[in-house]
Amino acid sequence: MALQNINPTSTKAWKQLTDHFNANKNHEIKEYFKSDATRADKFTIEWNDFLVDFSKNRLSRETLGLLLNLAEELKLKDAIGKYFEGDIINETEGRAVLHTALRAKKTDSVLVDGENVVPEVYEVKEKIKAFTASIISGDKKGFTGKKFTDVVNIGIGGSDLGPAMVVEALKFYGNHLKMHFVSNVDGDHVYETLRHLDPETTLFVVVSKTFTTQETLSNATTIKKWFLKHATQADVAKHFAAVSTNTEKISEFGIASENVFPMWDWVGGRFSLWSAVGLSIALAVGFENFDALLEGANEMDDHFKEEDFDQNIPVVLALISVWYNNFYGAETEAIIPYTQYLSRFSAYLQQGIMESNGKSVDRAGNPVTYQTGTIIWGEPGTNSQHAFFQLIHQGTKVIPTDFIGYRNSLHGDTDHHNKLMANFFAQTEALMNGKEAAEVKKELVEKGMDEKSLDKLLPFKVFQGNNPTNTLLIDKLTPKSLGALIAMYEHKIFVQGVIWNIFSYDQWGVELGKQLATTILKDIENSEIANHDSSTLNLLHNFKK
Ligand code: F6P
Repeated sequence: MALQNINPTSTKAWKQLTDHFNANKNHEIKEYFKSDATRADKFTIEWNDFLVDFSKNRLSRETLGLLLNLAEELKLKDAIGKYFEGDIINETEGRAVLHTALRAKKTDSVLVDGENVVPEVYEVKEKIKAFTASIISGDKKGFTGKKFTDVVNIGIGGSDLGPAMVVEALKFYGNHLKMHFVSNVDGDHVYETLRHLDPETTLFVVVSKTFTTQETLSNATTIKKWFLKHATQADVAKHFAAVSTNTEKISEFGIASENVFPMWDWVGGRFSLWSAVGLSIALAVGFENFDALLEGANEMDDHFKEEDFDQNIPVVLALISVWYNNFYGAETEAIIPYTQYLSRFSAYLQQGIMESNGKSVDRAGNPVTYQTGTIIWGEPGTNSQHAFFQLIHQGTKVIPTDFIGYRNSLHGDTDHHNKLMANFFAQTEALMNGKEAAEVKKELVEKGMDEKSLDKLLPFKVFQGNNPTNTLLIDKLTPKSLGALIAMYEHKIFVQGVIWNIFSYDQWGVELGKQLATTILKDIENSEIANHDSSTLNLLHNFKK
């Protein structure tokens, strides 16, 4: 069954939220703390080894209550059921959205067209397990009998960002194989990568759900040509593997069927790292760690499905985000992990969140009259503190920010970890409290500054504060906790799509540019240039000079 089609602005809760916003919009976060000594406890959810503190936000119990009413009125519970049960909720593509089935327990049953897909999922997992074990152990060798030392993942979008992010995040758990990712159609990417590789010891994994993506096919073809300069066509079978739904195209490319890993059209590209798209993850960190990643995600799935909404992490985070996006007019959200291992995390979430919820037409096909998907950005702390934090602290924009930190480091050096985490806690406190003029003045007087210079400098040293943050404190960066963290954001995406009454699982917006690029490639390769606007025409003529 389809998702409901309800305009959120037509609900009672939306109207109440609007009145509530107008009455409370200037209320400061620190004032909420002053009037309620138990606020931190009330606005904290603890689940497994996660602690999610959302108390440093511009909201009261009443705000949260109204946001929860909004979720009720928009039939969120019903939508969650349909999501997990494989209803065709990706209506414009006529598909179910079942990345959750990829991490289901072996005994679970998830029906697609009346058939339980879990056994098939486990069959592919077994194939991944056997393949990765044979590569890591050296049982499977290259065409000259040498062990594999390097793996190149060739894919783009979800076929690149997910594996690339996780491989980087779990580097600590890695084995000896060196991982490389080639995604961009820009030849710099592929040729720079190839410069450092030995064809005798490199395994290539071509990842493309459709196996029609220009970037991936161009890169795979270039790499195969390079490989064939050193080896024979028969050797391709030993050095190339593929992940796709399009088995026909894979065999045209010449990849041996035993190295082909299927996926399904009910897995969206940007949510596919849990499928065989995660083959590079398993190769990098071993199948057990890949499986633990899936287990963590499955635990978050259970939490999301079963927990009451006021204690449900993805639901609460999604509602808070709606509060800023639709009432405060916040356009962006920053995600700041305090671990260098998560350096690709916001890039990964940019696709997940922006490709899903960057929509302006509602489920009835009408233009929306309210804001939808937020702009996502971020970099790890503390680097980001020395880059763009100035704007969050003293700029003019409301930027809700998620801080992700760990109680324990992986390296075990307490000195480094304490310094890192001191910054982590200091930032959310500073963002909320700011620094008032009286405090700045006192400091400057103590430094011996004269009255005149002090008055001049004072306004620049004041921080307004009141900047909203969520703090996620997790025990340790492990495959399991990472799986849960990724799934948490996936479900936040889902909840927001339900609230905004949009289809989160298609991506038609990517198509137009792709189509035009095909036409323009002909213009570049042929002598004639087709009709374009005068700017594009001038640019094409200049390029072809
Ligand atoms: O960017 C559009 C998109 O369709 C993504 O959703 C997808 O992850 C990516 O292209 C790559 O697609 P494929 O895996 O089919 O090559």
